[in-house]
Amino acid sequence: MTAFPIRNICCIGAGYVGGPTMAVIADRCPQIQVNVVDLNEARIAAWNDLDLSKLPVYEPGLDAVVDRARGRNLTFSTQVDAAIAAADMVFISVNTPTKTKGLGAGQASDLRWVEACARQVAQSAQGHTIVVEKSTLPVRTAEVVRSILEAAQRQAVDGELPISFSVLSNPEFLAEGTAIRDLESPDRVLIGGENPVAIQSLAEIYGHWVPVEKILLTNLWSSELSKLTANAFLAQRISSINSVAALCERTGADVREVARAIGSDSRIGSKFLQAGPGFGGSCFQKDILNLVYLCRHFGLPDVADYWENVVALNTWQQHRISRLVVQKLFGTVTGKRLALLGFAFKADTNDTREAPAIRIAHDLLEEGAQLAIYDPKVDPQQIAFDLQLAASSPPDVQAGPTRAALSGEGTWWSGTSVADTVAGADAALILTEWHEFRQLDWAALAPWMRQPAWVFDARAVVDPEAVKSSGLMLWRVGDGAV
Ligand code: NAD
Ligand code: UGA
Repeated sequence: MTAFPIRNICCIGAGYVGGPTMAVIADRCPQIQVNVVDLNEARIAAWNDLDLSKLPVYEPGLDAVVDRARGRNLTFSTQVDAAIAAADMVFISVNTPTKTKGLGAGQASDLRWVEACARQVAQSAQGHTIVVEKSTLPVRTAEVVRSILEAAQRQAVDGELPISFSVLSNPEFLAEGTAIRDLESPDRVLIGGENPVAIQSLAEIYGHWVPVEKILLTNLWSSELSKLTANAFLAQRISSINSVAALCERTGADVREVARAIGSDSRIGSKFLQAGPGFGGSCFQKDILNLVYLCRHFGLPDVADYWENVVALNTWQQHRISRLVVQKLFGTVTGKRLALLGFAFKADTNDTREAPAIRIAHDLLEEGAQLAIYDPKVDPQQIAFDLQLAASSPPDVQAGPTRAALSGEGTWWSGTSVADTVAGADAALILTEWHEFRQLDWAALAPWMRQPAWVFDARAVVDPEAVKSSGLMLWRVGDGAV
């Protein structure tokens, strides 16, 4: 099979997926010009920042990859039409959030950005263009993309080139925090499509660094559905282990021991069995809800209910943690200072989308708590946006309670280090598994806290003995023995 030669790629969407994915393609394929475009000028300016610490996405190793390719065969710009016109292959890597209103609100994917891209490609493409769905999409979306593109196809007229399209599905499986490793050494690359030449063209790009046996070819619909299913299975494991964690806490079992015991069974496997504050991130909840919507749409209400419970259990786990904090602090946190350590939805990312910390912080603010929040990578302005509450100035730890504390109004401020965040606090809640939280010197921190003080370790990263010997009380997710 001869592939269609790809010399120029355009990627629409310079987000958490588009940016790193295209940086790796450009790095591994120096003969291909890769142009990443986005409507968001500030984001593009950040991708072009000479200071690599200012890239809009924080991912270990991303700066080095961008540094090698940017200016050589990798560009970032807002010139969407020009980049489409120059491209042999266009990746659509735009956001596909859950619809907030109208038909399917709260479950179905909002495809307006994908549709806008398809229309823009239809308008600006030249010659034959392979259009690749990189965004996560409901099964059968390629039909929509294809019908928009087909309406723009034309035979050669007046000396102009004919215009034609092929549509492929190539979902992305990278996880944030390990994006570069996942892209450079993927478990698999999935390509779904109908046109064998187009499929081969995309497979050859990945073939520059991915072994051929890891490049899986399927039909379009299997590819689209596999992405939703993969996320649903991963999230299901987290809800399963979190449900067991709650039972461990009641029975004296330890969820880590249970996870090790069941994970040693090669049929179950050891990954994704870490109990915690529930899954966050931009995709698990959105993709499962989308699956739920599709099941109902296709007349499978029992299947929909099955998957919906994975999300319900996750929400329950987050509320369970805020409730138990209140209970252990004598039934009230009104006016009390609580330190939240970690706000990102997982370690090694600055992303806070659907972070468990948001729901837990909301619950505690609702109870009138005074929250000091520290995350090594999250911008305080992002926290204010997520909580829909402006930050207060940090109170004087030596002084008495603030006016807000006395009135029972929930407030938050941004801590600049773990030490200043826990100062004066009745409890520290660990919500993200940042490396620095694994190595805290609790003996040094404890005297700064108001006694009796608690550590609520929702990520099980602390050394229980070190916490307890510092005179602090400890709750650890899934640990019935502490
Ligand atoms: P994102 O919000 O970070 O980035 C999307 C970008 O697309 C934004 O910068 C936005 O300005 C841009 N955009 C939207 N419409 C546009 C248009 N018409 N023209 C030009 N630019 C436009 O989203 P993301 O996290 O990169 O996710 C993108 C897709 O990939 C989603 O479908 C998501 O489900 C999927 N996905 C995400 C991850 C992840 O880890 N974040 C992993 C795998 C798959
Ligand atoms: C996830 C998938 O792992 C990727 O394969 C997929 O491409 C991506 O979603 C997507 O489609 O967006 P991501 O959300 O970036 O990646 O990160 P994960 O490592 O999967 O973590 C998701 C959430 O689950 C985090 O909040 C994490 O803390 C939590 N988690 C993960 C647990 O609570 N326990 C675990 O054992 C694993």
